Amino acid sequence: MCKSLIVAGTIAIVAFACNQKSNPDLATNEPAKEVYQLLGYESEIAYGEHLVVVGGCDDCHSPKVMTDAGPEPDMSMRLSGHHADFGYAEVDRKMMQSKGYVTTNAHFTAWVGPWGVSFAGNLTSDATGIGNWTEDNFKRALREGKFKGLENGRTILPPMPWQQLRHYSDYEISAIFAYLKSTNPIKNVVPPPLPPQE
Ligand code: HEC
Repeated sequence: MCKSLIVAGTIAIVAFACNQKSNPDLATNEPAKEVYQLLGYESEIAYGEHLVVVGGCDDCHSPKVMTDAGPEPDMSMRLSGHHADFGYAEVDRKMMQSKGYVTTNAHFTAWVGPWGVSFAGNLTSDATGIGNWTEDNFKRALREGKFKGLENGRTILPPMPWQQLRHYSDYEISAIFAYLKSTNPIKNVVPPPLPPQE
């Protein structure tokens, strides 16, 4: 009886000590830290912006300015997607399709390939972007490749790499969405894609 009490007591102390070690907030009584804080970001939005930068979203979704070092995102139009007046490569699409060639414009926003022509979406907080989207819409767009994140939306076309971006964790998707919702709203209706040429 006494022996089993000692064993139980030891287990309780060890469990308490381990818990203390993995959760220092118990000692300080401060609220548990968010993942973004543990990673050194001051807000969820700042962490979301970091994920957008390293995720390469600007490469296709931000118009470019030409610099000596090559094309750079135009920060005044950041993430506003393809603008209709940029145009797209008016090449022989039948030839492109038969050869499997792909080409783009100087902004990397309009893509001609075997799937037709696709135009990078407006990801800013404007209503013509993701302004009216819910986080569920955003998650469905990235995870299931559904246009506008709608259940019955068409499949998002190349070269949007949703098959890779779907591996973002729920936490990361929430942070990216929080950042996109905080962006400067840029009004820009992106043209619909063009089908492959018959
Ligand atoms: C290689 C180019 C490329 C990269 C990189 C890229 N995208 Fe895209 N994205 C596109 C294109 C092109 C479309 C439009 C496809 C279509 O119309 O079906 C698109 C569409 C989308 C859509 C759907 C828009 C809508 O209106 O339904 C979302 C959301 C999106 N991208 C988010 C992102 C995010 C977030 C990143 C970075 C983590 C990213 N994209 C990186 C090219 C890209």
